[in-house]
Amino acid sequence: MNLLEAVWVRRSQRTYLPRPLEEVQREQLGKALAECSRRSGLHLRLVCPQVSPFAGQGRLKGAREYLLLAGPAEDPDLEEKCGYWGEELVLTAAAMGLGTCWVGGTYDREACLAQLEPGETLVCVAAVGVPEGSPAPRPLRPAGELALPADSAPAWFDAGIAAVQRAPSAMNRQGYRFQLRPDGAVQARLSGGGSFALVDLGIAKRHFQLGAHGGVWTWGDGGVFHKAAEEKSCGAVIWRPAGEGREYLLARHNGGHWSFPKGHVEGRESEQETAAREIWEETGLTADIDTGFRRVVTYSPGPGIVKDVVFFTATPAGGTERRQEAEIAQLGWFSFREARALVTYATDEEVLLAAEAYLSGKS
Ligand SMILES: Cc1cc2nc3c(=O)[nH]c(=O)nc-3n(C[C@H](O)[C@H](O)[C@H](O)COP(=O)(O)O)c2cc1C
Repeated sequence: MNLLEAVWVRRSQRTYLPRPLEEVQREQLGKALAECSRRSGLHLRLVCPQVSPFAGQGRLKGAREYLLLAGPAEDPDLEEKCGYWGEELVLTAAAMGLGTCWVGGTYDREACLAQLEPGETLVCVAAVGVPEGSPAPRPLRPAGELALPADSAPAWFDAGIAAVQRAPSAMNRQGYRFQLRPDGAVQARLSGGGSFALVDLGIAKRHFQLGAHGGVWTWGDGGVFHKAAEEKSCGAVIWRPAGEGREYLLARHNGGHWSFPKGHVEGRESEQETAAREIWEETGLTADIDTGFRRVVTYSPGPGIVKDVVFFTATPAGGTERRQEAEIAQLGWFSFREARALVTYATDEEVLLAAEAYLSGKS
């Protein structure tokens, strides 16, 4: 499941099994935490305390672990950034099948303050854990109450608003309005107060961006969104049988991260043709590509650009393994467990998990 799909299934989970996260789940969330902390400049951590900060405080039952959403006290956009990046993590956890709940009021704030470094401000936390049961979906606020009327809105604007309808907010207030301007940009303004209004705005901006399929927001009440230019790459999770299971081919890119072979679509290539060409260029192997498995990862490789990466599964069919020196520092075959630990990004780990499940179901 990707983050946009998680927008549709996430809801505040208030009952949890009294069980810690599995180590592999902690590691996968850890990759997203590292990436979000690096990009945001915030202090984002998963905390597993001895005593639950939610015990005896509100409606949360069984929850103990939480995301600490904090950052430099002097950052003027701290609350909004915690909303935006916190929701990225909440959706990552939801995509992993975990339960989550934003918590700004009903927790032991003093206990959580002890986790901060000097000079940091705690904005709020979000409970994360193994869900018990699934809460009923809440009624959605009509799109017309979240978007100011526009003459003819492009489909991406309507899709952005549909994602905003599903954004969590303190007391379910959703105190903001989105307006499509004549120049094609979108402006978001607060329409109400409340102590978490800016956190809610940051959450809603992230949802809008996911629904609209990429773009760049400026921070603040009245911040503006410009739709991103779209790019596309294709690649594959390459595997071969090994013993009882299978091995996966990973590439360490010259930038340092471990991932799967992939690259840009050229000319009028089909997705499958791009994947085959990129595998050949990066690894020297020809491959049989199975399009029965198709997963899309979306990320922003730079300001104003959104990239979809389509992954298939593939098996080597011929050629001689050799890395493309300009792009790849190292190639290696790894067991599922090794590969899972090695891939740098949480999104790639999600693709690997899906591929392993697909291949296990097939064989
Ligand atoms: C910033 C923020 C603070 C919140 N604080 C609490 C809280 O203290 N206790 C709680 O039970 N829920 C809290 N919530 C969860 C909201 O009540 C919930 O997101 C909202 O009712 C919408 O429901 P949904 O998340 O299922 O879509 C908070 C949500 C946000 C975004």
